[in-house]
Amino acid sequence: MKVRGRSKTDKFTFECNEGERILYAGLRSGLALPYECATGTCGTCKARVRELETIKDLWPEAPGNTYLKRDRGEFLMCQAHAAADCEIAVPAKMDVVPDDYIAPVSTRGLFANCRRLTHDVVAFEIELADPIEFDAGQFVVMQVPDVDGGRAYSMVNFERATRRLEFVVKKKPDGGFSEWLFGSEVEGTEAEICGPLGRATFQPDEAKNVLCIAGGSGIAGMMSILARGCQERHFANHKGNLFFGVRTLKDAFFLDELSSFVAAHPDNLNVTIALSDEEVDPRETPHNGTLDFATGFVHSVASERMSGNYDDVVAYIAGPPPMVDGAIRTLIMDARLPAEMIRYDKFS
Ligand SMILES: Cc1cc2nc3c(=O)[nH]c(=O)nc-3n(C[C@H](O)[C@H](O)[C@H](O)COP(=O)(O)OP(=O)(O)OC[C@H]3O[C@@H](n4cnc5c(N)ncnc54)[C@H](O)[C@@H]3O)c2cc1C
Ligand code: FES
Repeated sequence: MKVRGRSKTDKFTFECNEGERILYAGLRSGLALPYECATGTCGTCKARVRELETIKDLWPEAPGNTYLKRDRGEFLMCQAHAAADCEIAVPAKMDVVPDDYIAPVSTRGLFANCRRLTHDVVAFEIELADPIEFDAGQFVVMQVPDVDGGRAYSMVNFERATRRLEFVVKKKPDGGFSEWLFGSEVEGTEAEICGPLGRATFQPDEAKNVLCIAGGSGIAGMMSILARGCQERHFANHKGNLFFGVRTLKDAFFLDELSSFVAAHPDNLNVTIALSDEEVDPRETPHNGTLDFATGFVHSVASERMSGNYDDVVAYIAGPPPMVDGAIRTLIMDARLPAEMIRYDKFS
């Protein structure tokens, strides 16, 4: 099916395969269509279609639909197939796609090495049939047979042309994917994957100091950023500050891995674990010396400790939406960081 369209800046045409979401088809074709969650929640990917019957709405109850004027033909590109050739209007500017843009692909892989990290956090890998490329900080949308709709998960690892993607998922009570992941034998299950997606990416050649603020499983993409940063020896010449927020020490994970990153660049890389509901004596933690500990909400701890240290910084934020909103507010109002230097994923 052919999709013809216009945005505030461009006119475009792309092919949408049978069963392919219009957003993913446009991104695959190299267009910088607007989106954030890619899974029906945020409303950023809204567009207007000239004839409603030329698209199929895959999730009429999507939370992102509350941002739409349905009587004007508005729909979410991430939740629609093309049912016929169609004409759409995207009420946004489209950025120029960078030269090193990695277009998303649809592929499949098998669940492997599934293990609990805490009482409500599971790590697993997807072994892909074909290698894919991604940038540190990106995510994929994953769909499994027994759960309706796709879920976005950020890669934890960073490797070029890899057949192995690592993920970490925090259980959401009564969540569809969560109940399936925590309640079933998932090893060997086949998943459909679309990716890489996401613009909160780390590019070492930007040559910036790095600030990461993560709540809970928001640490996933930050692990990928630190992995890439260490591979490229970025922290030999640039500062890196990571703040990881959890409720109590028993909710924290990846501490050994974070400690190894710091040990590789002790002069420039700092990791602080912010505990919202507990005070700890750092001398009693096994990572005393490499990791710092603080009490408070992660964005408040970050704001306190970063005060006066925002020169030449690019910031990455990921986790629950209220935490991400709090951190963005602080970085704009207190730190005066320009919007383009604040990159985030809201785990909605
Ligand atoms: C960019 C991004 C990256 C993320 N990365 C991570 C990560 O690394 N680790 C992590 O733990 N969480 C991550 N999340 C959150 C994750 O995608 C899920 O929202 C979370 O795991 C809860 O899923 P659930 O199925 O258990 O809960 P549910 O409440 O069942 O579903 C949550 C989301 O799934 C989608 N959804 C639900 N039902 C349907 C349906 N019928 N059809 C289509 N879509 C549906 C919607 O987007 C909904 O908000 C990320 C979210 C985003 C947006
Ligand atoms: S990108 Fe489609 S609703 Fe968020």
